[in-house]
Amino acid sequence: MRVEIGRLARARGVRLLGLDDIDSTNDEAKRLVASGERGPLWVVAKRQTKGRGRLGREWISPPGNLHASLILSDFGPQRIAPQLGFVAGLACLDALRALSGNSSRLALKWPNDLLLDGAKLGGILLEGVTIAAAGGSSLPPIAAVIGIGVNCDSAPGDLPYEARALSALRVGAPTAPSLFARLSDAMVETLDVWAGGAGFPALRERWLALAAGLGGPIRVMLSRGETIEGRFKTIDASGRLIIDTDAGARIVDAGDVILARGGAKLLEQSDARA
Ligand code: BTN
Repeated sequence: MRVEIGRLARARGVRLLGLDDIDSTNDEAKRLVASGERGPLWVVAKRQTKGRGRLGREWISPPGNLHASLILSDFGPQRIAPQLGFVAGLACLDALRALSGNSSRLALKWPNDLLLDGAKLGGILLEGVTIAAAGGSSLPPIAAVIGIGVNCDSAPGDLPYEARALSALRVGAPTAPSLFARLSDAMVETLDVWAGGAGFPALRERWLALAAGLGGPIRVMLSRGETIEGRFKTIDASGRLIIDTDAGARIVDAGDVILARGGAKLLEQSDARA
């Protein structure tokens, strides 16, 4: 099946590069930026041979799943670029809910994961590429590459965390092309609300309403090896995670999160992730 961009996105000048095979749509998008592309352009591939996840992990990318990266370069000051991960997560969830009859089985997990029944359904890899600002140009010095992967058809089995595919929804499960068409429109709508950061407070509220594990037990592994345990209190005005611990509130910029499932105690294995 061929991917097609949504009507709203096309009307707003968003373009599509549809590919069969590529190493990684994020890497292809970054190469395009290096050769002068400034977007908005979606790079979508049926299969990735070197799909990448957050924190340097592999992203298994067989045909039937969605692998898409959006190049954006006129979104505003560079410091607000991390908010684009939340914009993309919300757009994905809006598209998924619209196509699945508003299933309450779908949720968001900090920072940028999509969950189905509490298991990982998809994720977002947000990267910046430095671009040379032309003299007098209002372009920021980076272009954002927003990479989105969703397990539409199949979920990898052999992972240190539970993964699920949309096909588990059975009736009405969106295919990768139908999800992409809706997602490309939802991304335009959500970027409109975001309005270069001015609308982030409203999106933050929407994100919190869809967040898994809010108020419940949480464990976060930081890149420097430290683990924080406590209660998932909220996200702050810039999207950072706030955890209530016995020693007071901790603010987290980046990390790997484990949430308790259905009120259960957090898993004991330090390498298990949900
Ligand atoms: C995560 O670790 O949760 C993020 C996964 C992001 C995967 C997508 S698939 C499209 C784009 N290209 C990549 O190589 N990665 C992202």
